Amino acid sequence: MKWTFPVVFISCLPILSISLSAGPSLKTSDTEKRIDELLSKMNLDEKVGQLVQYNYQDSEKYKALIREGKIGSFLNVPPDAATANSIQKIAVEESRLGIPLIYGYDVIHGQKTIFPIPLAESSSWDPVLAERNARVAAREAAACGVRWTFAPMMDIARDPRWGRIAEGAGEDPCLGAAFARARVAGFQGNDLSNPESVAACAKHYAAYGAAEGGRDYNTVDVSEKTLREVYLPPFKAAVDAGAATLMSAFNEIGGMPASANPLTLTRILRQEWGFEGFVVSDWNSVGELISHGVAASPGEAGILALSAGVDMDMEGNIYQGQLARLVREGKLSEKLVDQAVRRILRVKFRLGLFEKPYTDTNLAKSILSKEHMAQALDAARKSIVLLKNDKKLLPLNKGMKSIAVVGPLADSRKDVLGSWSGRGSEENAVSVLEGIREKIVQSVKILYSRGCDVTGSSREGFKDAVKLAAQADAVVAVLGESADMSGEAESRSDLGLPGVQEDLLKELVKIGKPVILVLMNGRPLAFSWAAEQVPAIVESWQLGVQHGRAVADVLFGDWNPAGKLTVSFPRVTGQVPIYYNHKNTGRPSQDNVKWTSKYIDCPSTPLYPFGYGLSYATFKYQDLKIGPETIAPYGTVKVSAVVSNLGNRAGDEIVQLYIRDLAASMTRPVKELKGFKRIPLGPGESKTVEFVLGSDELGLYNPRMEWVVEPGDFQVWVGPSSAEGLAGQFRVVE
Ligand code: GLC
Repeated sequence: MKWTFPVVFISCLPILSISLSAGPSLKTSDTEKRIDELLSKMNLDEKVGQLVQYNYQDSEKYKALIREGKIGSFLNVPPDAATANSIQKIAVEESRLGIPLIYGYDVIHGQKTIFPIPLAESSSWDPVLAERNARVAAREAAACGVRWTFAPMMDIARDPRWGRIAEGAGEDPCLGAAFARARVAGFQGNDLSNPESVAACAKHYAAYGAAEGGRDYNTVDVSEKTLREVYLPPFKAAVDAGAATLMSAFNEIGGMPASANPLTLTRILRQEWGFEGFVVSDWNSVGELISHGVAASPGEAGILALSAGVDMDMEGNIYQGQLARLVREGKLSEKLVDQAVRRILRVKFRLGLFEKPYTDTNLAKSILSKEHMAQALDAARKSIVLLKNDKKLLPLNKGMKSIAVVGPLADSRKDVLGSWSGRGSEENAVSVLEGIREKIVQSVKILYSRGCDVTGSSREGFKDAVKLAAQADAVVAVLGESADMSGEAESRSDLGLPGVQEDLLKELVKIGKPVILVLMNGRPLAFSWAAEQVPAIVESWQLGVQHGRAVADVLFGDWNPAGKLTVSFPRVTGQVPIYYNHKNTGRPSQDNVKWTSKYIDCPSTPLYPFGYGLSYATFKYQDLKIGPETIAPYGTVKVSAVVSNLGNRAGDEIVQLYIRDLAASMTRPVKELKGFKRIPLGPGESKTVEFVLGSDELGLYNPRMEWVVEPGDFQVWVGPSSAEGLAGQFRVVE
């Protein structure tokens, strides 16, 4: 047994302590002086112009507004430096004060080199990987003139009916915070003025993922405690990481829309966290305050949003149309306008846009480079989750005679890109079928049949698919969702495999040949029958341009999968919301005990739990140590365990630490992730992994919304998922 030095865990970020200092400061005395000087020269219309963002259109009207200094930003500018520079030239050289424009774009998981969708990337449990991916995305976006991305999206999501679950890092605040910080660091780098850096935008602030029924844009009604403990930690981490901007969300939060919410936008974001950047609204979310019913007119909407802390109005026409008039009529203080202008100019100065307003066309050389494609392959491989592998069916033998590849997604390049794939194009992507062909074409006969469509009821293709599969040694069924079935405004009421795909799968399994199900999807799906009847299941999500190669690497053993779920998979849609860090209730669920919290027609456990994923290696956990077993309220406790690779091949294991506060002044989740680390282990190798738990990890918000560590007993687990692990206890005493 090979021993190596202890691996110290990165515990989850100090995500809940209220700190008055944000991350790396956006404010410098030099910048503030330059803002003062510029602000003193600006007239009211030019000030309001900085608060206005429009969706780019090549029109004389917009060019005129740019010349008059009445637009400060565009989104969706055509992705090439020449066009971006030509528009910028109007602002810099033809307007009175020459204030540069800032271009924003949804670079969610890549610009041209498309990476795994964020939900897939989070399954790697590797924030360093996420930072590297974001850096590549920033480099390619900046080459296209984009210096501000509307990412990372960091909405905690517990309801997979919500299509935007695809865009975030799953259901857990700790993991979400770690990925938020990493993605911000990747986009912004350590110097925002570096021409390859882009300003990040932490979105959607806040609690957008808690939409009732998983229906996009729907009502959110969470307590301040839940808001602070579940939905805000990733945003706090992003601000601590120096995020330059945030985006206010569409939804209301307990009666007050997020785009006019003084609690989140002023008290928490500005006063508690000390955020120094600016907040952009989501698309017309200022104008939608009227539809929400909190503003009776566009003018009222403008006053509410600006006063609460929305600094820029995306495609809303409210600020552009109302603010100057309201100031002139004495209904709105010009100081509020100045405050918003200052925040926006601060980011423009820090990006270096005044010194370098134009994009260097040489940056385009990096787009789709070999280095970027290699990074995308590494990310795709690390994001795959092996859900089932009975009798070690996988990896497949490259020497088999023939393999059947079946399913409506098997030969799709478009769908591997996932939602929000921006400027990515399918011509740069590799489908699963192409990935398999590339890997084994020389030796194995590859048979392909579509079998059916992603949706729809036609079974016409079944016969051909079954006939062909019967000739093969093994069958790979590639099923799931098309790229446009998740993302914005793509909520689903039924989480089963769409269309007749499950019926096709049943026909394939009936043949009696080994069947491997490869899922391509943007959200957790409910597939209980397949989970029972199919011997091997690979969750491949939508992995971007290198999807097909990464899947082939896993299927044929050239990559040992290590990904783990960052969101629970339900058995049936009716179980939703189902998430691991739930409360115990007064009658915790016991499936065979009547008077407990459960369903009478479905087990209470998920199909696959948070943190779950298999490997081709076998890992063993032993020697849990906790010390000291008693600590003071603001002391620290060290938890360690030994993890061994019992298999004969190297593999990564994602070691997780969970706690439970057994009795507190308010109810606590039955488990909370407080640390994790993906560690490589050679065959037979063991590593001691350590955590240090302190007030950031052990605290909670008490009834007075103060962050405190309370005396009492804590349980702790170190293990391979939220459903299992070595258990121990320690106590906090006054
Ligand atoms: C959309 C999305 C937001 C995106 C913005 C600009 O409605 O909600 O995430 O950044 O508009 O495209």
